[in-house]
Amino acid sequence: MTTFFFFLALLTFFLLYNSRRKPYPPGPKGWPIIGNMLMMDKLTHRGLAKIACQYGGLVHLRMGFLHMVTVSTPDMAQEVLQIQDNNFANRPVTMNISYLTYNRADMAFANYGPFWRQMRKISVMKLFSRKRAESWDSVREEVDEMVRYVVSNAGLSVNIGELVFGLTRNIIYRAAFGSISRTGQDEFIKIMQEFSKLFGAFNICDFVPGLAWLDPQGFKGRLVKARDSLDKFIDSILDEHIANKKCIINDKGNNSDMVYELLAFYSDDLSKINHSDDVNDSLKLTRDNIKAIIMDVMFGGTETVASAIEWTIEVDTDDVFGLTAPRATRLVAVPTPRLLCPIC
Ligand code: HEM
Repeated sequence: MTTFFFFLALLTFFLLYNSRRKPYPPGPKGWPIIGNMLMMDKLTHRGLAKIACQYGGLVHLRMGFLHMVTVSTPDMAQEVLQIQDNNFANRPVTMNISYLTYNRADMAFANYGPFWRQMRKISVMKLFSRKRAESWDSVREEVDEMVRYVVSNAGLSVNIGELVFGLTRNIIYRAAFGSISRTGQDEFIKIMQEFSKLFGAFNICDFVPGLAWLDPQGFKGRLVKARDSLDKFIDSILDEHIANKKCIINDKGNNSDMVYELLAFYSDDLSKINHSDDVNDSLKLTRDNIKAIIMDVMFGGTETVASAIEWTIEVDTDDVFGLTAPRATRLVAVPTPRLLCPIC
């Protein structure tokens, strides 16, 4: 009898819940439990455009237990990105991302709020200020080195992708850590590569949260190992910077790298950490914040810029902008006097 009443109560709850819930936007019908997961490989920008043709600008998809909405028309995009910006400003995180960003201690995955706003202020006024950019001699040195490489390979084919990726990686590494020698850089790149794989990995537990305790794909061990290596690497750099206070200001009056810049806000006293909006309350960052922000910069600033440069060089501008520049196919290094001058 008790079981009967229990199931009756459960059924009533579900019926009431479903009758009060607003309907989802239209979308392709999914399977029980897995929903639309079998369509995952079709959800490219072209695939989404096709789905939008059939169902409209706002399409509902269910991936396992996760409900998603895709936005495909200018009107809907304006609604989401502008009119209801505040409701949609937070980025969703996967379990892997949450662990690797020290539970969203960075800027990119921090929810919209006082901490994010303070970080934006630090980014604009300190990390990426005009004065700061002008003082990055390391950028010029790295570019010089790349030009030297092109010159020494004059007449030969050049792998632009690799060359440019190496350039942006070196620049960001030096902007972040200020280290002139490349000691440790290879180790750091390996750590970042593992992070990158884990960031983008498909983890079934994101879609069926009940499976998290089982960890069927064995992510937990890999996540702990990856974050431990980053901890070890950046902690030693942080300690070195803290011990080496006299190098803090460079000859242009700026902190000489991003670690110094961020350390100016560092507090190891957790009770002082105050993420409020009040301008009189100065922002305090923890070690985890600093590590996660450096990681954002490494990820955000390397591949994006390299791809943009490579794309600009290789794209058929006629196809994209209607310009009549010739298509670049095989790139051959050709030194010109303008490139040679600064380094000869
Ligand atoms: C061509 C180069 C780049 C492209 C195409 C690009 C693209 C983007 C895009 C689309 C976003 C998301 C914006 C949003 O959701 O409102 C973003 C955010 C971000 N980017 Fe970039 N980016 C580039 C260069 C860089 C560089 C050089 C850095 C750092 C040195 C960087 C660091 C970041 C960070 C930290 C965020 C998160 C900001 C936030 O939470 O509001 N990006 N980027």
